[in-house]
Amino acid sequence: MSREYWEQRYQTKDMPWEKGAPSPGLVDFLAGYCGPRQATVGVPGCGTGHDVREFARAGFEAFGFDLAPSAIPQAMAKTEAAGLKATFALADFLRDEPPQKFDWLFEHTLFCAIQPRERDEYVRAVLRWLKPGGIYLAINYVVIEGDAGPPWRTSREEQLERFGAHMTLESDWVPRSYPNRQGRERMFLWRRSR
Ligand SMILES: C[S@@+](CC[C@H](N)C(=O)[O-])C[C@H]1O[C@@H](n2cnc3c(N)ncnc32)[C@H](O)[C@@H]1O
Repeated sequence: MSREYWEQRYQTKDMPWEKGAPSPGLVDFLAGYCGPRQATVGVPGCGTGHDVREFARAGFEAFGFDLAPSAIPQAMAKTEAAGLKATFALADFLRDEPPQKFDWLFEHTLFCAIQPRERDEYVRAVLRWLKPGGIYLAINYVVIEGDAGPPWRTSREEQLERFGAHMTLESDWVPRSYPNRQGRERMFLWRRSR
């Protein structure tokens, strides 16, 4: 979908994805995460930045990117109000060069928001934005009725097919979700090959 499409959704406040809180699956993951936190994480399609702030709260150096100009000042204002530090910038994840390569990339409701025909480009973007050996943590929407997206569903099989050639799947599970998405999402922890 175009920049104009997403910007219009923000301008008209037609944002059903905006829950005012980070993804419960990410909150649980970070609460149980015992590995190193001196790492950079990029969150493409960050919206108003709830997931970016959750990484910042957990001690990561967090960066959020979005295609819609209106998302960026909203994300910055909420981050300042929360007393947290994170960097936000306007970017087209599918087409732009990253400002830097990241140790981690976090996906939440961007893969389902792009046109299904753009999914090859999405995989190429992940490989462009993520360091070799880096972690790709994704929460994918796997149960959506109908085909009139966005959002559009994916499947575990599609994720394995698309990313399995470039990364090792360390684990995947059904995460805790927002109430209207419970049981409809699947979380994947991938490590990119060196
Ligand atoms: C469904 S919303 C989800 C926002 C956020 N992840 C959340 O869960 O609150 C999808 C977001 O992706 C952004 N987006 C769409 N295409 C993009 C692209 N090519 N590059 C970066 N952001 C994009 C939209 O502007 C929108 O903010």
